Amino acid sequence: MSKNFDVVVIGGGPGGYVAAIRAAQLGFSVACIDEWKNAQGGPAPGGTCTNVGCIPSKALLQSSEHYEHANHAFADHGIDVKGLSLNLKQMLARKDTVIKQNNEGILYLLKKNKITFFHGRGSFAKAEGGAYQIQVALAGKDKGAEAITGKHIIIATGSNARALPGAEFDEKQILSNTGALTIDAVPKKLGVIGAGVIGLEMGSVWRRLGAEVTVLEALPTFLAAVDDQISKEAHKLFTKQGLNINLGVKIGAITAGKKGVTVEYVDAKGDAQKTVFDKLIVSIGRTPNTNGLNGESVGLKLDDRGFVAVDDDCKTNLPNVWAVGDVVRGPMLAHKAEEEGVAVAERIAGQHGHVNFNTVPWVIYTSPEIAWVGKTEQQLKAEGIAYKAGTFPFLANGRARALGDTSGMVKFLADAKSDEILGVHIVGPVASELIAEAVVAMEFRASSEDIARICHAHPSLSEATKEAALAVDKRALNF
Ligand code: FAD
Ligand code: NAI
Repeated sequence: MSKNFDVVVIGGGPGGYVAAIRAAQLGFSVACIDEWKNAQGGPAPGGTCTNVGCIPSKALLQSSEHYEHANHAFADHGIDVKGLSLNLKQMLARKDTVIKQNNEGILYLLKKNKITFFHGRGSFAKAEGGAYQIQVALAGKDKGAEAITGKHIIIATGSNARALPGAEFDEKQILSNTGALTIDAVPKKLGVIGAGVIGLEMGSVWRRLGAEVTVLEALPTFLAAVDDQISKEAHKLFTKQGLNINLGVKIGAITAGKKGVTVEYVDAKGDAQKTVFDKLIVSIGRTPNTNGLNGESVGLKLDDRGFVAVDDDCKTNLPNVWAVGDVVRGPMLAHKAEEEGVAVAERIAGQHGHVNFNTVPWVIYTSPEIAWVGKTEQQLKAEGIAYKAGTFPFLANGRARALGDTSGMVKFLADAKSDEILGVHIVGPVASELIAEAVVAMEFRASSEDIARICHAHPSLSEATKEAALAVDKRALNF
């Protein structure tokens, strides 16, 4: 086996393995190194996303939603369920199967594309003769090391959960996303610090399964990055569902003991509080992962927050060394990592890979889901951009009524003069899928009138999108 490659990718998450596939498609000889181990110690490529992120969280969100529907929504449809019970062991086992299917799928894709896969940790050894030597500390039974060289290196080493000082993750009582996905008995009282994406998704899972969930958030505003109108609606809906969301808190001491995890905090009114939880999820953001990469040996530059420093094209300070995904600036999203991976492979091939950060969609997979692309109303105001807004509630959508899920709305923001779509914001059923139309429209710089004039299937949730576009011009038909 040749040990010299055109491209060596360190990290096999969505940024890394997708970059490897695109580079192989473009005719390069490619190696991909990933250290993630499955329960048996074998390779488990796919990174955070596949193993402890996007995929397992969505599996549990789906299962817990089925459970909640069977418990509370089926009766309304005339389906009476007797003796309903939760088999958490099976629910977790199914989630593990979904992870395994994805790990195996990625291994298959690497093989299909003739990418040499190394299971182990890759680190920079030295730069020589216009290439980089990468040391691979092999994982698994045949431990050992291998030295390989790459003309181009793509760093895609991802991120780790950020812990609160003095409250390290033990994954038994104080949980990161990893522990939050493997709780083996529904906690009576679950605490969540951070009302961000993970806090709301994992908080929803365990609330649906029967936990009393208290969310403690430092900021005074709920989901500050989301359009105000949408976040207010979401806050109302989540509170009604039973999530106890406390904003503007200041977290103090956290102590884990036999009786549970005690969290001391000062609430928004300034009163000192002390609550004991059976389990505590800490989801206060993530930090870039450059552990063990040994970038120092070749002079790899990090920025002041520990991210690998890159320019707009994902170039680092070193010639032919690139970095993509969570380990660099920008949103920590799997699809952003993938797009950067593809763009870098294309740039290595002399093409013009491009990522449009203005049209990266965001989705929060709660129920209802929240999804958006482009600017929020508060951003437009702050930037002094004149705009028109149109909203349409799912309450007035026939398909939503038939589904029995009429919460939320679609909101369009369009330029006051040109009518170009500047942002689309949705809280409602399958917002994750509906947002794709808005992303396409914005990529093509469509106007709200373009969407308003397009024929949408009836009855469908996407009609709410069309109606919100019509509402920009104050001519919604069904509201
Ligand atoms: P990662 O996925 O973190 O992959 C990096 C890989 O590199 C890992 O396998 C790691 O083991 C390996 N590695 C690191 N260092 C080395 C080394 N030196 N040698 C060899 N291997 C190494 N994003 C979404 O878009 N949608 C979602 O629904 C979503 N849900 C999420 C839910 C949770 C609970 C979490 C935690 C995250 C979620 N994300 C979601 C974010 C998403 O997981 C990340 O943005 C994405 O995984 C980043 O991809 P990446 O390739 O940059 O890094
Ligand atoms: P986050 O950035 O989404 O939310 C963190 C929250 O914690 C913020 O609201 C912040 O104000 C709060 N916070 C920070 N410090 C705090 C403190 N000391 N006390 C109380 N609150 C505090 O981060 P999260 O939820 O950890 O997720 C990390 C990232 O993973 C996300 O930003 C996202 O990029 C990605 N992700 C994406 C998902 C998706 O696309 N559906 C799902 C889950 C994660």
